[in-house]
Amino acid sequence: MALQRTFSIIKPDATKRNLTGKINALIEDAGLRIIAQKRIHMTKAQAETFYGVHRERPFFNDLVSFMISGPVVVQVLEGEDAIAKYRTVMGATNPANADEGTIRKLFAESIEANSVHGSDAPETAAEEIAYFFAGLELVG
Ligand code: PPS
Repeated sequence: MALQRTFSIIKPDATKRNLTGKINALIEDAGLRIIAQKRIHMTKAQAETFYGVHRERPFFNDLVSFMISGPVVVQVLEGEDAIAKYRTVMGATNPANADEGTIRKLFAESIEANSVHGSDAPETAAEEIAYFFAGLELVG
């Protein structure tokens, strides 16, 4: 398979506990390259737009509040089959169901404070990358 890019967020629960380096090590150990990265503090409007697809879900307001509760690290990851590979490294949404050795099994506190986000498909990866990064910021 050709090189693929995916979008990642290290969420506020993880930045708060100073886990960015440990999470980046797991990403790199899986063969993914971090080709862009920045630390930001999202506004409510930015988080609502980013999670707009989930607007009707019961947890939407809680998810937005959590995502603006502290800084996040947004990233672009590149590698073979990067989207599926990163979701494997992340583990299941609910850490109670996550496999051993995954980021969420190791670090997530709850289904809400689950440490990382990763794109779920090529179209969403492209949209999410373009939402946070200009093309010149991606250094493959
Ligand atoms: S996924 O990753 O899209 O397949 O998972 P999904 O279950 O559809 O969840 C979408 C995002 O919502 C978050 N989520 C929640 N947040 C707060 N409370 C509850 N109960 C909850 N359930 C799911 C989940 O972490 C996903 O966030 P992202 O940032 O996309 O990983």
